[in-house]
Amino acid sequence: MRRPTIGVFDSGFGGLTVLKALLELISGADYAYFGDTARLPYGSKSVETVARYAVEAAHYLESHGAQMLVIACNTATALALDRIVAGAHVPVVGVIEPGASAAAAASKNQRIVVIGTEATVSSHAYRKALEARGLNAREKACPLLVPLVEEGWVEHSVTEQVARIYLAEAFADGFHDADTLVLGCTHYPLLKPLLHRVTPGHVSIVDSAESTAREVASRLQQLVPATAGEERRRLPRLQFFATDSVEKFRRLGERFLGHPIEDVQHVDLKE
Ligand code: DGL
Repeated sequence: MRRPTIGVFDSGFGGLTVLKALLELISGADYAYFGDTARLPYGSKSVETVARYAVEAAHYLESHGAQMLVIACNTATALALDRIVAGAHVPVVGVIEPGASAAAAASKNQRIVVIGTEATVSSHAYRKALEARGLNAREKACPLLVPLVEEGWVEHSVTEQVARIYLAEAFADGFHDADTLVLGCTHYPLLKPLLHRVTPGHVSIVDSAESTAREVASRLQQLVPATAGEERRRLPRLQFFATDSVEKFRRLGERFLGHPIEDVQHVDLKE
């Protein structure tokens, strides 16, 4: 039995945090990762634009053998999951439903704060998913955090100050007792230690990367029988596709994935 190929899509490098979580949980699959680095950030773009970009990228991964698609980008999931699902011929998993389920499991008082990009927050996709589970949610856009993480300032005093200001606003006015913080953006898992320092002590931090990996593992079990023998024991094959500089993808990507990135191919998506 051949190993399945999981296609992972993100606007750029951030989705590698989701790939990292997938690799930790599912070693019996191969992976094709698509980073739309020429067109990022998605977090400040309109629904129409993000949907068009995301559908193109999903087609690309499907045409390169992906048997399941993981939309690792919170913004693309929030704005375009329905459109991606409608255009795909394989199962699609986004990050918002798994993130909302993890928040529901973590919270004791049903009061949640979600942080994400401007576009994710404006879509209210997280709030809707959380309210559907009986939770109260406050969403807060933190647009400065993505560039700070990409700059490598994950333990920088400036980033800490910025995060402190955002979170003070998020946990104000009736949400001071929220007991769960959802990291609704691919870049934020890199800031987990810093975010722990600037959130109230009683707050649990939910990372949608980990919960998405668990959802993919369970969907995969239903989709394909487990591989056996040699095929099962070999390491996952990783292929990377980027729409901008391959060199930059390697350099920045390693920070998000936590290990060297080799096989990166440049892709030119025609508009
Ligand atoms: N990947 C995006 C997200 O998770 C963050 C970066 C961007 O704005 O493109 O929302």
